[in-house]
This record gives sequence, C-alpha cells and structure tokens, in this order.
Amino acid sequence: MKWEVLKDEAAVSARAEEFLLESLVSSEVGAIALPTGKTPVALYQRLNLLSEDLKAQFRTQTWFALDEFLRRDLAPESSFRGFLLRHFIHPMGIPEGNLLTLSFHPDDPEKEATRYESAIAAAGGLKLALLGIGLNGHIGFNEPGTPLDSRTGVRRLTEKSRKANAYLFPSLEETAHEAMTMGISTILSARRVLMLATGASKEAPVSRLVKDRSITETFPASALWSHPDSWLLVDSTAGAAL
Ligand code: GLP
Repeated sequence: MKWEVLKDEAAVSARAEEFLLESLVSSEVGAIALPTGKTPVALYQRLNLLSEDLKAQFRTQTWFALDEFLRRDLAPESSFRGFLLRHFIHPMGIPEGNLLTLSFHPDDPEKEATRYESAIAAAGGLKLALLGIGLNGHIGFNEPGTPLDSRTGVRRLTEKSRKANAYLFPSLEETAHEAMTMGISTILSARRVLMLATGASKEAPVSRLVKDRSITETFPASALWSHPDSWLLVDSTAGAAL
C-alpha cells in the first residue's frame, strides 16, 4: 500500500479526482465501486463542478455501491442508494440505471449477494474500488472479525458503526442493525483500491493501518496491505501521526 499525506480535505479530493479520471479515460473494462459516508462528500461536490465534457465520461461508466443498510422500513433517503443518487448520480447527470446497489429489503439475502457478485463479474469486475475507513477499521460494512476471504453478504453492525451512521436516520433506535456489503475479498478483487480518510476522528485508525502492518481480521482495512495496487490518501489531520 502506498500512502500520501495531503494538506487538507480539498487536496485529498483533488488527488482522488485524478485517480478517478485516470480510471475513466483508460481503455480498461470494469466497474467502479463507490463509498457513502461523510468522507467522500467533498470529492462528490468537487466532481459536480467538472465541465460537461468531463462529466460525460462518467455517464457511460457502471458504478456499484459498496454496501447498503438492511431494514425493511428504511426510508429511501436513508439508504445508501438514496445517498449516492443525491450526492453523485443526479448532479453528474449519470443515468440511474448505471448505478447498481444492493436491496435494503431482499427476500433472500443470499440470492441478493449472488446477484451482486454476478453483476460485478458481468461488468468486467472492478477496475477501481474507492473506500472510506470506519472508526474500527471497517471497509464497506465488513466489521472487525469478518473473514478476509469474505464475499458479498450480510453483516451485523457494531454499536460504534450504528452510532457513526445515526445522522442518516431520524433517531439512533431507527438505525439499521444489519447491512449488506461487498466482502473484503470482493473489494480486494478490484484492480486498484483507493482509500480516503480525513478529519481528526480518523487519526487513530489511519495510524494503526500504516504503522502496524499486520494483516488481520480484527482490523479489516489492514487487508489493503495484501493488494498490489492499493493507495491511501489522508489529510494532515487524519495523517497527523504518520
Ligand atoms: C460507513 C460505510 C463505509 C464508510 C465508513 C466511513 O458506515 N459503511 O463505506 O467508508 O463507514 O464513513 P465516514 O466517511 O462517514 O466516516
């Protein structure tokens, strides 16, 4: 894994935009996985300001959400699909059909997981997976303890993750207890992995990730050390200890 400590969130977004554009203009076939959360919002806002010519490049690309809450009565605006439509797909003028997401109320989660894996394969695999990092080192919603060889499936959310996501729900009680996510191995199957981390709350997980290089299920982000083309972009706050 290579990492870069950049001045601030704007610099991280600018650098991430370079990675995305490089991936879009390349002739390489494949889809791009996208994260939700607070971290990528600055990047999405920046992309929304691109010229129409550049935005056109995004419109023929297939995009996959990394994960989705599981909750039958979820309001669509609390879903990660809703989040990505609002922050990225609609402002970029990307056809909604080019965003593939996991259902938040599948009748059969196992079938849903298989459908997602097949859709990724049919799109030519992932050429790029853009990631954030959870406070406990989760990637997607692969909480600590998830096997490193996991594929797409259901995960039980930790209290810490529920609290971190409570801002998307009317109250903490209404926060989902489970989610579906691409597995760690699904994410690592991407030809390139790009993780973004900004802000003081990410200093501890970033410091652990970079300084303690052991690859362990107890800290899912550490799996990036086993990937030949993985990158970490942090601002000077999240990277204060590096
Ligand atoms: C969320 C998502 C992740 C995200 C991470 C960090 O719960 N499942 O995909 O990267 O946790 O979120 P944030 O950027 O809000 O800190």
